[in-house]
Amino acid sequence: MKIIMLGAPGAGKGTQAKMIAEKYSIPHVSTGDIFRANIKDQTELGMEAKKYMDQGLLVPDELTVKILLDRVAKDDCKNGYVLDGFPRTIPQAEVLDKAVSELNESIDFAINVDVKDENIVKRMSGRRACLKCGATYHIEHIPPKKEGICDKCGSELVLRDDDKPETVQKRLNVYHEQTQPLIDYYNKKGILREVDGSQDMKDVFSAIVAILGE
Ligand code: AP5
Ligand code: MG
Repeated sequence: MKIIMLGAPGAGKGTQAKMIAEKYSIPHVSTGDIFRANIKDQTELGMEAKKYMDQGLLVPDELTVKILLDRVAKDDCKNGYVLDGFPRTIPQAEVLDKAVSELNESIDFAINVDVKDENIVKRMSGRRACLKCGATYHIEHIPPKKEGICDKCGSELVLRDDDKPETVQKRLNVYHEQTQPLIDYYNKKGILREVDGSQDMKDVFSAIVAILGE
């Protein structure tokens, strides 16, 4: 099963993608997580991506597309994957379509997690992320067992540099301009499904399972 998660920054794509990955035994592929891991390791790619991410801008397609195509070509993606944060532009979607159709395959669903902008800014300021294993928490909704420490790997949790309120607003603007057109793109292909992302995360997940099947 090949799934794309669509939605504004902070809509809960990552939260739901991790749950989907676990239930359906497919890898969770997040371009944002790949970039953040590279920033942490201070790789050349990470340093280049950071310039854009810190400003709330998209990393250029040339950099992003190659990383994604390399990742989905790995063995663990043979039976499918859930993409979180890719595609984010129409050219990225077209590259993905081409790569998938060259394998005589297709994307099964593009799930749009819909949350209004007002709710997003509140969510982001409470998010805490583990830069080592990619786990995310929320200081009110999903707190870690021990404050500031990742339940899964014991690393320190941080407020992402791009989660500061002024950068979140910029990311939302970029989302509306460059990423929202993908909703129409996948609707025309007949694979778009919508879920209300403002519900409790368990209810959002139930809505997704109702789409994907048990
Ligand atoms: P990326 O890491 O993809 O960030 P994003 O799209 O901005 O999305 P987020 O990770 O912020 O939000 P999310 O939807 O995953 O929400 P989450 O589940 O964490 O990208 C970061 C940057 O990298 C981009 O700005 C760009 O620069 C670059 N980049 C990445 N991919 C790229 C691409 N393809 N092309 C170009 N550039 C790219 O949830 C948010 C918070 O809410 C959490 O605290 C969570 O615990 C909480 N929460 C989740 N669900 C609920 C719920 N139902 N109720 C209450 N709280 C909830
Ligand atoms: Mg995410």
